[in-house]
Amino acid sequence: MFSKNNIKNLKIKNRIVLPPMVIFNYLEEDGFVSAEHVNHYEERARGGIGLIIVEATCVNANGRLAGNQLRLWSDKHIVEISKIVKACHNHGAKVIVQIHHAGLKTVPSSSTDIVAPSIYEEKSNQKNSGLSARSLTITELHELQNDFVDAALRAKKAGADGVELHGAHGYLISQFLSPLINKREDSYGGNLINRTRFTTEIITGIREVTGKDFMIGCRMGCNEPDLKTSIEIAKEFEKAGADLLHVSIGFDMTPSELPVVPEEFKHNWVVYGGTEIRRNVNIPVIVVNGIKTPEQASDLIKNDQADFVAVGRSLLVDPEWVNKAQQTLPIKPCLNCKICQWFKTGKSCPGKTSSIS
Ligand code: FNR
Repeated sequence: MFSKNNIKNLKIKNRIVLPPMVIFNYLEEDGFVSAEHVNHYEERARGGIGLIIVEATCVNANGRLAGNQLRLWSDKHIVEISKIVKACHNHGAKVIVQIHHAGLKTVPSSSTDIVAPSIYEEKSNQKNSGLSARSLTITELHELQNDFVDAALRAKKAGADGVELHGAHGYLISQFLSPLINKREDSYGGNLINRTRFTTEIITGIREVTGKDFMIGCRMGCNEPDLKTSIEIAKEFEKAGADLLHVSIGFDMTPSELPVVPEEFKHNWVVYGGTEIRRNVNIPVIVVNGIKTPEQASDLIKNDQADFVAVGRSLLVDPEWVNKAQQTLPIKPCLNCKICQWFKTGKSCPGKTSSIS
């Protein structure tokens, strides 16, 4: 877990990754990054993390998850993101920025013209919230691909080591990948190659403008809609030139039928999906979900089941997680709240304020 590893030629000092986690309340008006926001990342870089993936950063004003989401749709945001990047680099962490468009999950307060790969109407019931969207025209689809490419170039100008395309959790890229959502009848829908085309063309486009040394990662679900299909999607990303995969959950965040995990596997189905995707590609894979203790993370690396392990909520609770793990000091535990308090404000996180037992 404390051994160095490379992503292509980018040296990462250990195997622990801070996964992207939105911190909406830190952003000031018009996308200005507050000192508190910079400090949030710097604290965790100082805490010893090898790779920091900056939270979902919107590529287009009309695809936001919240009004005050981090953004890279204009050159004026470059200097803002660079504050976070510099603060993390100062402590030896490498930095990748997650770039994002919410598609049909865009909040109506940021756009009333909500778009998705194809027309979408969802009944409002216990599981679904009644989302609806119109289909993107082919011109709009290409414009959105360019938005991702432009945002990646801005991330490079901000000093970041790379970008991660947010292709998980049912946002725009995940919507293109999912046969449940993507009903397009042109070359961006239908078979798997067509469904991955939106993303693979973005990867190629980013590579063209940023060069070979800029890291391009893809976050993706291992249930898009099943593990077998997700493995094929991962191979397409690798073929297109992705340097790194980060395996999480797909469009269906609460699948009624979970992938089968062998009894001897010690972690949940999301982590299992990551390890299985890793067995089928030749680029580094980050696994994530429910990994809380240094023992769990170390086990995955020692058993050669992952290249990197992302520790999310536990690093929100205790920014010193990595340094403390190295010194075998007690770590403040994440209390696994049903809805993580950090979605509102970290100030009310009960783990953060607890004394270590
Ligand atoms: C998240 N997650 C998330 N994922 C993502 O791809 N982009 C994002 O911006 C966010 N934002 C976010 C905010 C907060 C407050 C939480 C708790 C989670 C999901 C996150 O990256 C991770 O996949 C999950 O938290 C599961 O990992 P842990 O927490 O079990 O280690």
